[in-house]
Amino acid sequence: MRHFWRRTATAALLCAILFLPGSASPGPRTAQPFAATLRQAAEARHITIGAAAASRYLTEAEYSAILGSEFSQLQAENEMKFGPIHPRPDTDPNPYDFKGADALVAFAQSHNMVVRGHTLVWHNQVPDWVKKGGYSAPQLADILHGHIKTVMARYASKVYAWDVVNEAFNDDGTMRDTIWYDQPGIGAGTGTKYLEQALRWAHETDPGAKLFYNDYDAEELNKKSDAIYAMAKDFKARGVPLDGIGFQAHVGLYFDDPAKLASFARNMKRFAKLGLELHITELDVRLNDSSPASLTAQAKLYGKITTLCVLQPACKLLQTWGFTDRHSWIPGFFKGQGWALLWDDKYQKKPAYAAVHDALAK
Ligand code: XIL
Repeated sequence: MRHFWRRTATAALLCAILFLPGSASPGPRTAQPFAATLRQAAEARHITIGAAAASRYLTEAEYSAILGSEFSQLQAENEMKFGPIHPRPDTDPNPYDFKGADALVAFAQSHNMVVRGHTLVWHNQVPDWVKKGGYSAPQLADILHGHIKTVMARYASKVYAWDVVNEAFNDDGTMRDTIWYDQPGIGAGTGTKYLEQALRWAHETDPGAKLFYNDYDAEELNKKSDAIYAMAKDFKARGVPLDGIGFQAHVGLYFDDPAKLASFARNMKRFAKLGLELHITELDVRLNDSSPASLTAQAKLYGKITTLCVLQPACKLLQTWGFTDRHSWIPGFFKGQGWALLWDDKYQKKPAYAAVHDALAK
């Protein structure tokens, strides 16, 4: 609560400064809101506002203009994942491909944005050379260790936080069967041992980076979030280097339910009590159509989720998974759904933009 008032006081102070007579900033008589962008509104709250992005779209003028002005963080939507960044075996003279990731990092730096890394250990987007290589557990451990070292070392001091492990749990709280866990796995042991190993390797490589566990459908109190919580509690108690939890927050309008939103708040609170930093990492609100009613409902939900982050002092990042409906993963993965982001496919701001802005600024 104290933090909340600090954020409010900071916002009020900034407001007063910006509205001083003679200031070059918008004066009191202009109709402009005091925070012209999401980024300005979020900064006043000490919240980072991020977007996932892809280097191939940076040549679109509107895309780069919005990304570079409205957001204070960039995260690669795909280009730091194992497959894209490490497409060839280590025996190849050129196993890595940093082109896309480097372009995103350069863009972020030239626009004064921080970069968040995604992701080092995940069951998806694993290249065929790993999946079909017939490697033993000790060989896979070497491959993963080398991967973590190479990728993190390249971006040390440029990437401030990493989703070290992504989506390791099933919905019922059991461990997901994956190549890194048990098929054949890296030989670290059962349960959360392989996550512990990955976190330790990551910490050794870049002790300055904040290390996250990231997952979906773990926003509410449920079996999956209980399992993540048990792991986090154990890791904190034993000094395993875990700094935070990422809540992906890929939701639909069903999530605009007081019980679900309250459950998300309570869940964040228990993780915060462990001393963890909380990031909302992949927010989007998918719709079945783009009717005015749907866009209004979407805006309301975006506003409520933003407010949950504002009210939870440990919540330091609000990030959307892309920012324009022109380039969103939703239509490809949720058939018949889409319109999930803050800008439409013509780069026009949607009602959800104003809702997020207002929730940050109020
Ligand atoms: C998605 C990307 O958005 C797509 O472009 C890609 O084809 C598949 O992956 N959870 C995650 C993200 O952690 O990495 C996923 O991103 C979306 C779900």
